[in-house]
Amino acid sequence: MTVLALRVIGDPVLRSPTRPVTPAELQDPATQGFIDDLIETKRAAHGAGLAAPQVGDGRRIAIVEVEAGNPRYPYKPPYGLTVLVNPRIVAATGRMLVNEGCLSVPDLRGTLHRSTEVTVRFEDRDGTPSQRTVRGLTAGTFQHEIDHLDGVLFCDRADPATFATWAMFDLHGRRAFEAHARAIVDEHGA
Ligand code: NI
Repeated sequence: MTVLALRVIGDPVLRSPTRPVTPAELQDPATQGFIDDLIETKRAAHGAGLAAPQVGDGRRIAIVEVEAGNPRYPYKPPYGLTVLVNPRIVAATGRMLVNEGCLSVPDLRGTLHRSTEVTVRFEDRDGTPSQRTVRGLTAGTFQHEIDHLDGVLFCDRADPATFATWAMFDLHGRRAFEAHARAIVDEHGA
């Protein structure tokens, strides 16, 4: 497995809508190898998820995985590795304020609204159709990754007045946001 180079804001690939993966393409060992590389890259960078455009690939593939004790997002509940091929959100309810960062938007955090519950249809890496309903902070992570597949970054949705570097977020925003995040987890179980 290979750790791939991360693309950052300003790279047009992050703004280009992705194309669906065909069943034959998904079975191709090269595609399966790419999914392994995406996983390896996410883990090396300590992300909560990663989408193909973030490594310069135009296919509709993203992953979500929050490992216990994730140093970037310690308030996010652990969530097992989930490979999303051709995902789309088919239902969304509720509204919550969250603070996000992104591996493709270095040293910036911001506050935005996300749905509190989303239902996602996708195929797994074997091509099996799947549907999953996720809530709370996990729902936020899913929305963030699927946004990437549509050329949307969290900063597009955030109130610019809330933008902060990670150091300033640690200093001025983290304590209050982590209390808010705990309340979301208490209410939604994720
Ligand atoms: Ni991101």
